[in-house]
Amino acid sequence: MAKGRSARTLDARARPIVNQKAPEIQAFGRLARLPNALSQTAALQSVENLNQVLADTMTLRDMYKKHHWQVAGPTFYSLHLLFDKHYEEQNELVDLLAERVQSLGGVSLAMAPDVAETTLIPRPPKGREEVPVQISRLLHAHEIILKEARAMARLASESGDDGTNDLLISDLIRTGEKQVWFLAEHLVDAPTVRAD
Ligand SMILES: [Fe+2]
Repeated sequence: MAKGRSARTLDARARPIVNQKAPEIQAFGRLARLPNALSQTAALQSVENLNQVLADTMTLRDMYKKHHWQVAGPTFYSLHLLFDKHYEEQNELVDLLAERVQSLGGVSLAMAPDVAETTLIPRPPKGREEVPVQISRLLHAHEIILKEARAMARLASESGDDGTNDLLISDLIRTGEKQVWFLAEHLVDAPTVRAD
């Protein structure tokens, strides 16, 4: 035992200090300027836009999981797998978007209630829906995101934020367009056994 320290003092040193509280170190919506050679105006614009598309992407991601769990019918197996694959890809995009916000000096949206009050994607019911309705909802959500992301990518390019422009185009838009293709083909009324 260390000299001059009672056993009780040593016990106290090893005890976790829980239930700690302190004011936030950065308020949501405020920018911590970083030496990244971007203007404050450009960084702030990108942070605001990225948080919007982040909220919508988190909502789309979670809708994929809802449909992965709740899907029904003869295409259950393939859609169960496809919805989860798209969920994983959207989850990666969520992390890219949130970390882009932080790397620009912003504060990323994170928690479900904040996402719910920010997203532009209509809230689906809690219950189960038919496959064509599930897919229609996903396609609508994708289109909202693709439309805003293209506009945001142009704004980022105009303001000199090429990193955000690249993330939106190379990652978000390209992934979204491919997922739209995979979904939309399920709504083509093509014969499965006998040709028309
Ligand atoms: Fe699963």
